[in-house]
Amino acid sequence: MYLTREEERILKGEVGSALAKAMKLLVTLGEIEEAERFVQIKRSQIAGVSYKTVGEPTLDLIESLVAEKAVVKTNATLNPAGMDLKRWRDMGISKTFADNQLRLCTAYKRLGAIPLCTCTPYLSGNRPGKGEVVGFSESSAIAFVNSVIGARTNRHGGLDALSAALIGRVPLMGYLIDENRRGTVHVKLDFKLRDEADYAALGYFVGKNIRTGEIPVYDGIKIAYTKELKLLGAASAASGSVAMFHIPKITPEAKTLKEAFGNNTPKYKLKINGTDIWSVYEELSSSKEPDLVAIGCPHCSLQEIREVAILLSRKKIKKGIKFWVFTSPRVFKTAKQRGYIKDIRTSGGNVFVNTCMVVMPIEEMGFKSIYSNSAKAAFYIPRITGGKCDSKLLSLAECVRLSTSA
Ligand code: F3S
Repeated sequence: MYLTREEERILKGEVGSALAKAMKLLVTLGEIEEAERFVQIKRSQIAGVSYKTVGEPTLDLIESLVAEKAVVKTNATLNPAGMDLKRWRDMGISKTFADNQLRLCTAYKRLGAIPLCTCTPYLSGNRPGKGEVVGFSESSAIAFVNSVIGARTNRHGGLDALSAALIGRVPLMGYLIDENRRGTVHVKLDFKLRDEADYAALGYFVGKNIRTGEIPVYDGIKIAYTKELKLLGAASAASGSVAMFHIPKITPEAKTLKEAFGNNTPKYKLKINGTDIWSVYEELSSSKEPDLVAIGCPHCSLQEIREVAILLSRKKIKKGIKFWVFTSPRVFKTAKQRGYIKDIRTSGGNVFVNTCMVVMPIEEMGFKSIYSNSAKAAFYIPRITGGKCDSKLLSLAECVRLSTSA
């Protein structure tokens, strides 16, 4: 891999051991993937922020970087933490957990990262332009920026995204290169998607049924807005590590089916019908009543919060059920100005920022069954809790219907 003089100096440790370690990681990554050189980046999204998922080792690492006076060189936003950084008491988070989480976020902040703590940074100011190369971790954001925005990122883990933010570069490889962004699998839909949960179920089914590294091209989707595209991408990234997809006439690198594939001949065709989608609802299903309905995986847009407020109007959340919405601090602020937060609270719901239903300490909080319109959340919740908490995939309208009374 070709390194400039400056990059060599960083690698040799001439500008500090923290940057040398970060550079070594990136060079190793680049050499494995046979990258020719580095590309400079201006934006990053760093995962590995919830104390529940990363714990003491990451806290030690970030604090050691702070001690070495390392600073990020990009507009680096953080993924969700394990709690709302201000209203954690309202979530029922213990002080011990909160102290550790706040320490971790403070350390990241001292590195220069922006503690927005959202997985939809592209809705909160850290939105790359079409064609821009970025270093994002967080699988749902990776799928969104590659597919929906047409920016370019590889599928980074938290540590390499952090390294890229410290160095301000990523190796030129994978999804940064034109030929690697073309569709490889033709996904033909033989049914009409009814609501946002169907998009999530479709993404989940496709991720589960294609090979790792494939790029699905969805043939048969006529309309998809931000909400549906977020849910679809997050689900296929969760069930199958899908980093990019195309939808002709909707995503920017696929004006037509032909353009989506470029010179590739599809490796195979995956035909999907209503029974396939139904199988996802059967798989992501719980027989228990919910104690939490959780909306916002990925974090809600303003439009989604408005929809929740409208659906909840003149209804009351049933006793014994919590109805929580998760979003970013910036979207929350606008939603508050427009009165949506007040409307949701009037019905007995709540809106939290900086965190989500998957990375908060679910077991410690005592939840046993969580309903959501996100296939990603429904997939991960039982797994990360070792089966202590069930989950169920339902549309937002169904979630509201089951958890409210007039
Ligand atoms: Fe975001 Fe948490 Fe879902 S990080 S994509 S809301 S699991």
